[in-house]
Amino acid sequence: MISIDLTSRSIRPELMDTEPVTFEDFRACLVDLSRVNRLAFAYRPTIAFMERLVEARSFDRPIEVLDVGSGYGDTLREISAWGAKRGIAVSLTGVDMNPWSEKAATEASQANGANIRFVTADAFAYEPPNGIDVVVSSLFTHHLSDADVSKFVAWMEAKGRLGWFVNDLHRHPVAYHFFRHASKIARFHRFVQHDGPLSIARAFSLSDWARLIASSGIDATGVDVARVAPFRITVSRIRPS
Ligand SMILES: C[S@@+](CC[C@H](N)C(=O)[O-])C[C@H]1O[C@@H](n2cnc3c(N)ncnc32)[C@H](O)[C@@H]1O
Repeated sequence: MISIDLTSRSIRPELMDTEPVTFEDFRACLVDLSRVNRLAFAYRPTIAFMERLVEARSFDRPIEVLDVGSGYGDTLREISAWGAKRGIAVSLTGVDMNPWSEKAATEASQANGANIRFVTADAFAYEPPNGIDVVVSSLFTHHLSDADVSKFVAWMEAKGRLGWFVNDLHRHPVAYHFFRHASKIARFHRFVQHDGPLSIARAFSLSDWARLIASSGIDATGVDVARVAPFRITVSRIRPS
């Protein structure tokens, strides 16, 4: 077993952020990432947050949801299916700085019949035309430096009219070693095999989140940080009405 120091966040860069590849290659990586998401029950906490939101607030128009770092768009397709099942109107936008994400997510959503907009932009620079009710993200914040995670928390607090939700990995040795072996056995895309364990090493502990929220400068009252099995941490806020 290789030895890895997980006492603090890794700053090693991920291949998916740094290595230029063809559209087909990047899409294959996103498809495998969506398989991992499904196998790891990654959509559950996001849908549970949407349930909490509609219990806490009432709506007379579609809920404007922005998914930051939307990748293949699979989280938004899950929210779309949830809205349809629950009879709740949602207006869904994904923003991702990689143009291949917009193309792959648009194609997959059209094939699936989901009405979702995907935009290529740096999240911090994106201003949706109708504003944002809730900002969600999954596997996004670990791509950022500590300073940018705090900036992102402040950005979500400023932009999300009703609240925001972060769904990301827990930096844990069991998760690291399990995924390193499992992704090889499953023969996932080489980016997923390389970046998956690295993402866990770049991810967070509960105390990291306490520190990053404190340094964001927001009022932390009502911010909930929770461990969610298997090996995720969610950070959320729903504004009281
Ligand atoms: C690991 S993928 C996660 C994709 C998807 N949310 C999921 O759960 O599978 C992270 C995504 O964040 C995007 N990303 C990284 N930094 C970004 C930024 N500053 N603005 C927008 N997207 C960004 C990357 O291009 C990548 O598609």
